[in-house]
Amino acid sequence: MKLNDDEQAMYDGRDGPAVQRAMDLLVRYGEALGAERLVDTHNVCGTISATTPFMRDFAQQKGGMDAVFSEFNLDSDDVVAIPPMKTFTSHLQLGFDPAHAEQMGISEEVVQFYRKGEGYIAGHGVQLMNTCTPYQVGNIPTRGEHCAWMESSAVVYCNAVLGARTNTEGRESTGAASLTGKIPYWGYHLDENRLGTHHVALDVEVSSTSDWGLLGYFIGEQVQDKVPVVSGLTAVPNLARLKHFGAAAASSGGVEMYHLVGTTPEALTVEQAFGRKRAMATLRYGEAERRRAYEQLNHTARDHDVDYVMLGCPHYTIEQIWEAARLLEGRKVHENSALWIFTPSAIKALADRNGYTRIIEDAGGLLMTDSCSAMSRAAPKGTKVVALDSAKQAHYLPAILGVQAWFGSTAECIDAACTGRWKGAYA
Ligand code: F3S
Repeated sequence: MKLNDDEQAMYDGRDGPAVQRAMDLLVRYGEALGAERLVDTHNVCGTISATTPFMRDFAQQKGGMDAVFSEFNLDSDDVVAIPPMKTFTSHLQLGFDPAHAEQMGISEEVVQFYRKGEGYIAGHGVQLMNTCTPYQVGNIPTRGEHCAWMESSAVVYCNAVLGARTNTEGRESTGAASLTGKIPYWGYHLDENRLGTHHVALDVEVSSTSDWGLLGYFIGEQVQDKVPVVSGLTAVPNLARLKHFGAAAASSGGVEMYHLVGTTPEALTVEQAFGRKRAMATLRYGEAERRRAYEQLNHTARDHDVDYVMLGCPHYTIEQIWEAARLLEGRKVHENSALWIFTPSAIKALADRNGYTRIIEDAGGLLMTDSCSAMSRAAPKGTKVVALDSAKQAHYLPAILGVQAWFGSTAECIDAACTGRWKGAYA
């Protein structure tokens, strides 16, 4: 690993022990990956907060929040004083929603500990966006910008839709990046790794948000961690559709970069998307493939009585909340069911102002922030059957909570919440 003078000075301790630990971590990490150098980053998105009883005990025994950061963000056995973040750093989702901790089964003591830590990280310059969709609420990197982001759905959106550059980083590498403004230069930071590997030709129209989830689910399973190039789109997908598509492809496979010909910034044409590479394979996506993805996502579902409807994976946009509010207006969530919708707190503030939160709450649902059922491992008590409009959540939740999951459209999910029954069908 070649270091420039500034990097070498940080590595040698010029900026104090925490920055030195961070540089040591980045050098070890970069060398393990085969990176020859580091690259400047002015945009980090990671997890720093402490939200578990284990971390609370660790902080109490080892020396407070500096100890938590040293151990969990710098991989340092020694506790070092943590200076302010050097680089713009936004926070990912948490393990619960502090405003609805009781419903999620989180004790007041853990919430208090989180609040204390929140003050610590905000005081160090971390932006408390607390979402897997930072690109909705103020962290929108520009094309070509080198980033250090965690969270698979955020990473794929960052690379493919925004044309910024990141690998899927971890808690430690993002912690080190936020203190140094550096990240190893490898993977999706390099032009050649961003070029397409597989061609996916659409034989059916892909239009609704759930359609995009199904397409992403199919593609991820087929290409795994490669770079699909999708051609044949008949309409330009909006933010919500791309959010669901990428999240699904990153769940059934490990897609971190894709191209939609004519839509995403590095694929004005098929030729541009592949560059000097040739497609390793061409896949076709038609009615049979769509149906198979739908059946895979619904394979755990048997019982039609629905206990819980969860919306907002990845975190809902204001447009999706508006849609949910319109579908709910004048209706009530069924007494045997529950409805939780997740969004970033900044978007909830907008939903509050627009009156959507009131509509959702009047119907008996909750608009929640900062987390989701998969992250928090929380669902309303006694939940056995869930309904979801997210392919990603339908992929994970049965395994995480041991529940049955129905996947369908937002309208089908809202209907299930209000009737307590799943009536969705493959359309
Ligand atoms: Fe976000 Fe949770 Fe889905 S963190 S992407 S809402 S699994």
